[in-house]
Amino acid sequence: MKLINLIFVLISFLLVTACGGADKKKTVNTDQNISLSETDLEKGAVLYRAKCMNCHMKSGKGIEKFYPPLADSDYLRENLEDAIYMVKYGSNKPIKVNGIKYNSLMPASGLTDEELVLVFNYILNSWGNDYGSITLDQVRAVKRKSKEIIPWNDLF
Ligand code: HEC
Repeated sequence: MKLINLIFVLISFLLVTACGGADKKKTVNTDQNISLSETDLEKGAVLYRAKCMNCHMKSGKGIEKFYPPLADSDYLRENLEDAIYMVKYGSNKPIKVNGIKYNSLMPASGLTDEELVLVFNYILNSWGNDYGSITLDQVRAVKRKSKEIIPWNDLF
């Protein structure tokens, strides 16, 4: 009886690991024909939960008039370079997202360029967004123009 139990446990374990492994290979195809791996999107999700979710919310919908939405955001879709600048260096300039004005502060994220690629590819492909993907070169090319925003880490 005991041996049968052991075999059953072993088989279930093998099944679970086999399926888990297959899942990681799923890809999301984007405009630029770069396939994002499920693992990269998961890493992006972890960064999003740690660094962005407090304001932009789990649903990506933000809080109207205070924190703009990332889900179905015309701003993110049409001003990608500017959006990278804002997340990289912070922003307090007035912007309009889906017709609503926002003029609050987003502190600089403090993320590395590599982490920014992950988190951007996550927000570009979540909540129904199908906004393509970005590369490390694109993030690196966005350089700081002024020093008026205080980085997040310096606020505390
Ligand atoms: C403290 C709250 C806060 C946090 C944390 C935060 N944001 Fe923002 N975000 C804002 C605010 C406020 C704006 C509008 C800024 C402005 O008016 O200039 C904004 C604007 C944006 C925009 C451009 C507008 C839009 O909705 O498309 C993007 C993209 C964005 N944030 C992404 C992120 C990402 C990615 C992170 C995490 C790395 C993040 N934000 C973390 C508050 C925040």
